[in-house]
Amino acid sequence: MPLNLAVAASICSLFCSLFAIVSAEDPYRFFNWNVTYGDIYPLGVRQRGILINWQFPGPDIHSVTNDNLIINVFNSLDEPFLLSWNGIQNRRNSFEDGVYGTTCPIPPGKNFTYILQVKDQIGSFYYFPSLAFHKAAGGFGGIRILSRPRIPVPFPDPAGDYTVLIGDWYKSNHTDLRAHLDKGKKLPLPDGILINGRGSGAAFNVEQGKTYRLRISNVGLQNSLNFRIQNHKMKLVEVEGTHTLQTTYSSLDVHVGQSYSVLVTADQPARDYYIVVSSRFTSTVLTTTGILHYSNSAGPVSGPIPGGPTVQIDWSLNQARSIRSNLTASGPRPNPQGSYHYGLINTTKTIRLSSSAGQVNGKQRYAINSVSFIPADTPLKLADYFKIGGVFRIGSISDNPTGGGIYQDTAVMGADYRAFIEIVFQNDEDIIQSYHLNGYQFWVVGMDGGQWTSASRNQYNLRDAVARVTVQVYPKSWSAIYIALDNVGMWNLRSESWARQYLGQQFYLRVYTASTSLRDEYPIPKNARLCGKFNVALLIYARSVYKWNLKLTPARGLILFY
Ligand SMILES: *[C@@H]1O[C@H](CO)[C@@H](O)[C@H](O)[C@H]1NC(C)=O
Ligand SMILES: *[C@@H]1O[C@H](CO)[C@@H](O)[C@H](O)[C@H]1NC(C)=O
Ligand SMILES: *[C@@H]1O[C@H](CO)[C@@H](O)[C@H](O)[C@H]1NC(C)=O
Ligand SMILES: *[C@@H]1O[C@H](CO)[C@@H](O)[C@H](O)[C@H]1NC(C)=O
Ligand SMILES: *[C@@H]1O[C@H](CO)[C@@H](O)[C@H](O)[C@H]1NC(C)=O
Repeated sequence: MPLNLAVAASICSLFCSLFAIVSAEDPYRFFNWNVTYGDIYPLGVRQRGILINWQFPGPDIHSVTNDNLIINVFNSLDEPFLLSWNGIQNRRNSFEDGVYGTTCPIPPGKNFTYILQVKDQIGSFYYFPSLAFHKAAGGFGGIRILSRPRIPVPFPDPAGDYTVLIGDWYKSNHTDLRAHLDKGKKLPLPDGILINGRGSGAAFNVEQGKTYRLRISNVGLQNSLNFRIQNHKMKLVEVEGTHTLQTTYSSLDVHVGQSYSVLVTADQPARDYYIVVSSRFTSTVLTTTGILHYSNSAGPVSGPIPGGPTVQIDWSLNQARSIRSNLTASGPRPNPQGSYHYGLINTTKTIRLSSSAGQVNGKQRYAINSVSFIPADTPLKLADYFKIGGVFRIGSISDNPTGGGIYQDTAVMGADYRAFIEIVFQNDEDIIQSYHLNGYQFWVVGMDGGQWTSASRNQYNLRDAVARVTVQVYPKSWSAIYIALDNVGMWNLRSESWARQYLGQQFYLRVYTASTSLRDEYPIPKNARLCGKFNVALLIYARSVYKWNLKLTPARGLILFY
């Protein structure tokens, strides 16, 4: 097996630079997580859920900007497993991203320690299982990144801070749902909606007169959800890492994959109030309720459940446009969020992405620019790092819609490190869509109905658009984002509609530099698991040439040590 000079270079970068992989001066937080099956009854029937340390939803991750998070995940399921991190950017370190394209799955009975750093980040996010439709069984939980003590936060410390995970839910387990998709069928409507793992009655305790922060994330599989609280207003303060203009809403649309922080003041007569979550843009509206419970409550919830928007698209579009950055507020650093003038930077490239649905070989598939993604046997990032050929082709997806029929490929789009680009999501389908890009926050500069044209740029918000990680695209509409490609790696761009991403509506954006400097990208982590073409033969050869100290540990699977 010939290893060329490029391989030598990458292997050198691997063991010549073992040190300083995480910044030692920043605090460490350690987590030991056991992932198991367990019985859950969210909609009243027994289901086999995926638990983390026997919890459903899983435990929250609490952290502060720049913390190192060392998360040792033991897979006690009977299937390969990976967790991924919606919103954690894994700067210079896409190896830790925990998706098919970056990280070898953790085999049943084995473990893997994620080494994450929440570098230069604040905000509310969540983690979730990324493989094999596991997300339909649980395994998700909240992530919060607080500001460092001396960085001002643009609102007073709340009396309490609650994670509110909302999402649609099926009574069928994930293996049945997956089998359904594997047979090439579409999923039926979900059976209900959960709030923090409960189909009804999830309670949040408040004291009259005090103000609370609610971090609401839609961890569901497909539905946009409307969130509201009877007789209470919500002040929006943060969206996926950006402090927003503090606008007050009586209900809020949370599209699948998105996170919002609101402040709620318990300023009503002391009793219990309905928290309501209902599905948007569905012919049958699914609704669930929780309870806002005053500590001095004089009685249970009463009165009609407050109604909310159902199929109205303009209502949602107008609300989305009203969400702006507070330019004078600090973000993760003490300087104001508005000190980076994204609107004055010229974009060097426009990528236009259009989704489609159709059949391939008699089975339902979903595609972006006609390519329906199929995973390779080897994580794309490892293949790239070790220059293993035959795994993927850069340019296997076009950066503009081709209009052709759907075909399958391991889609990877190349992009230049440090470029400043525009991505336009065109949605010609009649359902709402939601897209997430790992590794980045991006500015949502515009969205509107119809076809995007270059004239659409005239209506962009180039001043105070919100920077976030997941953007919705309304039916027969477009959304446009700006991104500074300052994070080298192999980054998953996917539909957050889980059946769609499972059946191909995703690809990888390869942000590449020839540099092997640690300033640009970290080497592969020491404990990386191996799989696919990244195999023993390659390692044994590398060991003989490069005098690696390779350790085969049968009890824990094959792990790279150097
Ligand atoms: C995880 O939980 C399972 C089931 O209770 C148990 O058998 C296993 O030993 C646990 N693993 C770890 C690493 O704690
Ligand atoms: C899912 O449910 C089916 C019955 O519908 C059952 O045969 C299967 O074992 C279940 N899978 C899991 C993982 O519980
Ligand atoms: C598995 O867990 C052990 C501690 O129990 C740890 O030493 C080891 O590094 C972990 N393995 C990986 C691949 O992270
Ligand atoms: C914006 O942030 C500043 C703190 O820099 C705060 O004083 C102000 O109230 C915020 N404005 C709005 C409209 O949210
Ligand atoms: C952007 O491009 C315009 C002309 O197309 C030019 O005048 C301007 O200086 C450029 N701005 C920057 C920041 O490069």
